[in-house]
Amino acid sequence: MRTQVAIVGAGPAGLLLSHLLDRAGVESVIVETRSRAYVEARIRAGILEQSTVDLLREAGLGERLDREGDVHRGVYLQWPGARHHLDFVDLVGRSVTVYGQTEVTRDLGRARDAAGQEIVYEVTGTAVHDTDSAIDSAIDTAIDTATVRPSVTFTRADGRAERLEADVVVGCDGSFGPCRTAVPEPATWERTYPYSWLGILADVPPSTDELIYAWHPDGFALHSMRSPTVSRLYLQVPNGTDAATWSDDRIWEALATRLGHGEHGWTLTPGPITGKSVLPMRSFVQQPMRHGRLFLAGDAAHIVPPTGAKGLNLAVADVALLAPALADLLRHKDPRAADAYSERALRRVWRCTHFSWWMTTMLHVTGDPFDAQLQRSQLEWVASSTAAATGLAENYAGLPIGF
Ligand code: DHB
Repeated sequence: MRTQVAIVGAGPAGLLLSHLLDRAGVESVIVETRSRAYVEARIRAGILEQSTVDLLREAGLGERLDREGDVHRGVYLQWPGARHHLDFVDLVGRSVTVYGQTEVTRDLGRARDAAGQEIVYEVTGTAVHDTDSAIDSAIDTAIDTATVRPSVTFTRADGRAERLEADVVVGCDGSFGPCRTAVPEPATWERTYPYSWLGILADVPPSTDELIYAWHPDGFALHSMRSPTVSRLYLQVPNGTDAATWSDDRIWEALATRLGHGEHGWTLTPGPITGKSVLPMRSFVQQPMRHGRLFLAGDAAHIVPPTGAKGLNLAVADVALLAPALADLLRHKDPRAADAYSERALRRVWRCTHFSWWMTTMLHVTGDPFDAQLQRSQLEWVASSTAAATGLAENYAGLPIGF
């Protein structure tokens, strides 16, 4: 098989990249280890930054998003005895939209179907080869010389072995995929956290109009939502927690306590829990995000802890830079944007890495009373200072794509 861009991974990063490349006149083939049903059901955060929404709209993917997405002006930040509304629209003139990653992935899947995109699902043994060659001066000769072209090898679900040759390979295959490890001697940074999240999906209308981020001595809690009839809520739990040890009653009781049920006339309405899982938290960055003809985008190069819901937005921002860069390279033989990709993308990656770390460490209980005092001071600062609130709002609602 031959194509211009071999994309490893059919999550939102890979699908959006193929969509944007197609619109720019560049062809691609995607390979994915999971099934389409698995990819489309995978539950992730559902908060889209303004620039993510703008990009999806411009790419012709805004129809259902505009109909079903719920635009939020801001969030509530709370701790015992206090609830403060941060209005991003007033602070920075931008909003966020609640629309699940599962929905973005489904919309992308349908758009790719309509365009006849080739996506090979349920492959095994994916490996990337010959990515070392430089892309600038070599691009013309490389197109004619099969031996120096990079390739992706894999086995189809029916057992057939394949070699997909391409001009470039893009790893959109997350932190466990093969692409990240194909970059020789990268610099890496990692931070683990001494807590996890227990996340639930519940068939009950949200008890709040906008998200509630709650600091509480028992641990952090978050009230989010997926639709007018489906709520998504999270509790800070110790690492290694088994979700089965949390009964539905225990979960609703802890959420009621931490979210302040009964305070200031606010009540939490419980309902049937349809999904329950424990999410580990990690910060990770690998750079550079390019090696020769191999580029990385999204979780393949960076992981953020979930607080602040940056993961998908960061993947979209990577792809928004990479797609035009690859179009310049492959259509116009202009390598400048491709050469600048890693450095440009990493600027935003580190901004979001810091923001996600800051939100996480401000809101999660560590058991250390000094930490608790610092957290309380930060929360009061954000709630009382327009300068501090503006900083949070600017990062949460999202910096411009070109930041
Ligand atoms: C959601 C997840 C987050 O990590 C967050 O900060 C906000 C919302 C969610 O799943 O809806």
